[in-house]
Parts: sequence; C-alpha cells; structure tokens
Amino acid sequence: MDTRPIGVFDSGLGGLTAVRVLRRILRQEDLIYFGDTARVPYGGRSRETLLKYARQDLRFLRSFDLKAVLIACGTVSTTSLETLQRENDLPIVGVVEPTCRRALAVTRNRRVGMIATLASVRSGAYQAALRRLDPEVSVFEQPCPLFVPLVENGRFRPGDVVIETVAREYLEPLLDWGCDTLILGCTHYPLLEDVISKICGPGVTLVSAGEESAFELKRLLAGQDRRAPEDRKGKAEFYVSDRAEDFEGVASMFLAEDIHHMARRIDIDQY
Ligand code: DGL
Repeated sequence: MDTRPIGVFDSGLGGLTAVRVLRRILRQEDLIYFGDTARVPYGGRSRETLLKYARQDLRFLRSFDLKAVLIACGTVSTTSLETLQRENDLPIVGVVEPTCRRALAVTRNRRVGMIATLASVRSGAYQAALRRLDPEVSVFEQPCPLFVPLVENGRFRPGDVVIETVAREYLEPLLDWGCDTLILGCTHYPLLEDVISKICGPGVTLVSAGEESAFELKRLLAGQDRRAPEDRKGKAEFYVSDRAEDFEGVASMFLAEDIHHMARRIDIDQY
C-alpha cells in the first residue's frame, strides 16, 4: 500500500486523455498533472530540446514525493523514456510499448497505421516496437503536425471545417493503404476521436496511447503492491507553465468536471 501521488506530464492538454482513464480505473489514487503549456507543441522539436524539456518537467514533478510517473506524451516517450528511466530511481511508464501491444491484439489484417507528431515518427520508436513484438506486421506512419495546435485551441469537434479538412488529408493515405487498426500515437489525438472515427469509419479500430499507458501503470502498481487503499477517493492537482485560465476551460470540458480555479501556474525555467 502506498498513498503517495502519481505524477503525470505532457506538453499541454493531451495527457488529460490519460488522466481521464486513470481517474476511472484508479479512483483511489492522487494525481499531480503538469502540462507544459508555455512550450507546447513539442512535436517538431529536436531530441536534445525534448530531453531538456522532459528533464525539467520531471524535476518539477519530483518536487513532490511521488510513487510513479506516467509520461502521458508520445513525443517524450518516443525520444526520452530510456534516458529518464536511467536517471530516476522511481517507476516511469511511457506510452509506446503498451499501445503497440494493444494494436497487435486487435488487428486482423496486420496492417497497422500510426499517427503521431513529427518527432515521434522521426524517432521510429513505434515502428521498432511493433516489429519487435510481431516481425510480420506492416506499419504505415503518418505525422500530423497541425493536430496539436488545433486541439490546444479547442478545434477538435466534429463539424469544425478546419479540423475535418486537415484530418481528411492526413488520414486518407492510411485508409487507401488499408489499415484496420490505427494507433493514436500522440496523447492529444483522443480529443479528436469523434472526428477521426467519422473519417475512418467502423472498419478501423482506434487505439489510444494515453489509455493503454494508464492500464500499464495500473498493472505496474498492482504488481509492486503500490496501490492506495480502494476505499479512498483520490484527488488531482493541475499545474501549467502558462495561463491557467486557458488550460482550465478546455480541461474542464474534456474531463467533464469543473476544474476552474484549480490549475496553478509555475515557472518551469526554475527546474
Ligand atoms: N501530446 C504529446 C504527444 O503525445 C505532445 C504533442 C506536442 O506537444 O506536439 O506527442
């Protein structure tokens, strides 16, 4: 039993897709969320910059006494996970491996599509993990650099002509290629689930990176007997590196609960 909080971070809102699942499957756990909203998007940046940002994000989170960390960011997981695991003496879960395992469990034709940020596609991490787990699988990767800025600006609803046009352009090559499973390799993308499934249709199963990594964390805590007692109700704290008000509006809508006046701004350059 361990009642210390779990740290979760992302470049911005995307990690909330993992928080939403964590609050459902690990209701008893306290969460501390950090969204690096001053520096979002991460997706086009170099490995060196991403590692620097990720180290600072983690250093901030570790100013709390945490029992584990979930990197709810595809871009950080694909580029910096191993280094962060090596440098830190607490369990750190990323999104790549659990998401790939899930995709391989659901695909029937072994044609798996993967959409993510430019940095994640460039890293080759999803492709490598899929091939390691199933050498016969075919993979088609598509970077979607406009998705994160649109989501951060609240443009993720079906019927929004801008997001639908952009999404169609990104997704059509994958659909022509014939994937039956599509990995949403960036944790911002589940916010676009309605738009994406409208374009892909019922023949394509969507696998969300945030969701799978939340389940992985649950398994890890159970395996190490680090779960908080089931009869308690966990609370969440939210921190951002830019205007808290902007984050709270979209976050409240997304988490379906009022988090107004709950997010606090911190200076990430101090970490
Ligand atoms: N949500 C993040 C990811 O999963 C970061 C996207 C970004 O900031 O570009 O990749």
